[in-house]
Amino acid sequence: MVLTVSMMCADYGILGAEVESLDRAGADMFHIDVMDGRYVPNFALGPQDIGCIRKHTRKPVDVHLMIEEPGRWIKYFAGLGADIIYIHPDSEHHPARTLGDIRALGLSPGVAVNPGVAAGSVRELLPLCDWVLLMTVNPGFAGQAFIPHMAKKAEGFASLSSSHSFRLAADGALSPPVITDLHARGVESFVLGTSSIFGGEKNYSEGIKTLREIYK
Ligand code: DX5
Ligand code: ZN
Repeated sequence: MVLTVSMMCADYGILGAEVESLDRAGADMFHIDVMDGRYVPNFALGPQDIGCIRKHTRKPVDVHLMIEEPGRWIKYFAGLGADIIYIHPDSEHHPARTLGDIRALGLSPGVAVNPGVAAGSVRELLPLCDWVLLMTVNPGFAGQAFIPHMAKKAEGFASLSSSHSFRLAADGALSPPVITDLHARGVESFVLGTSSIFGGEKNYSEGIKTLREIYK
């Protein structure tokens, strides 16, 4: 099980301290949402936040680009310390080339697949990916509701992952019961936001420990 914590849900006022407590609590990775107000109608973390997160942990950072034409910015985010870069294939004209550019920089490429994007439409990109990020909410905002039919879609990608070399992650409204169900359907990595460790009273180590039990 890979638990990646969604830093747009953290307390920005004490971002460095948040990273250190999440790291100590057992987070495996730090999920960084980047938005441009065009591909999605919102903004989230910026370069300074990424720099701050990078400074406070040695664990991997996965950058989720919800921006138009992400191919223009791959080098830039690599320079900020990204280890994985997700692009939305529908956000640019040549996603295959951009995934190749990410890999050429020594980073792990991934595609983020929106709820309205059919799995079959990204099939040709799967051989180029180390990760597939299944969006279980429409991108752009934390705190939304899980879209139920994404569970079936997860199963479809999980069956595809056996004939490809990508790993399957899910992102959006992942509560412990939803994580339990998606794990049973073959999802390996989970973006944790307001439906788990950032919701209610914030006890990061308790929250992560509970989730680890699911895999016991
Ligand atoms: C939404 C982002 C998610 C979001 C997760 O566009 O990609 O990472 O922050 O937050 P919750 O778990 O609250 O949906
Ligand atoms: Zn995300």
